[in-house]
Amino acid sequence: MAAAAQRVRGLACRRGCGDPARGERRAVGGILSLRVSEGFHIWDVGRVGTIETLSVLPEERGAGVGTRLVEAARREAAARGAESMAVGLVHTNTSALRFYEREGFRTFYRELLGPV
Ligand SMILES: CC(C)(COP(=O)(O)OP(=O)(O)OC[C@H]1O[C@@H](n2cnc3c(N)ncnc32)[C@H](O)[C@@H]1OP(=O)(O)O)[C@@H](O)C(=O)NCCC(=O)NCCS
Repeated sequence: MAAAAQRVRGLACRRGCGDPARGERRAVGGILSLRVSEGFHIWDVGRVGTIETLSVLPEERGAGVGTRLVEAARREAAARGAESMAVGLVHTNTSALRFYEREGFRTFYRELLGPV
């Protein structure tokens, strides 16, 4: 998770890295990409908008930024014809899982890793 926050910080700084204490604006979170594509072959879920790496700076979490970013992603995906949304999470990320479940996401597909 620290890596994701670092990436957001990097993106924010490329846009000016403003100092809020001086009334300057800065990005505090973002979504790396939103892909809208035909869903999952045999399952009839229509077009799916997939969020990749939603991240909010650690010091800005819990203030509703993530919720607003998901809302924005939903609006954008709907405008591009999506009928549902998807996001992938590593299984240890229980706090993000809680966040997405609160947003109405439910487990649909599990990817398993095993030994070679
Ligand atoms: C998950 C994440 C995007 C939520 O963003 P946020 O701006 O904190 O979310 P909001 O303020 O809108 O909602 C807060 C909810 O998120 C959850 N949450 C998850 N991690 C949190 C954290 N570190 N701090 C505060 N809330 C967190 C809480 O369940 C909280 O729910 P509550 O208000 O019922 O307690 C953010 O915590 C984050 O960047 N996490 C690290 C990156 C990550 O795991 N991304 C998901 C993979 S795509």
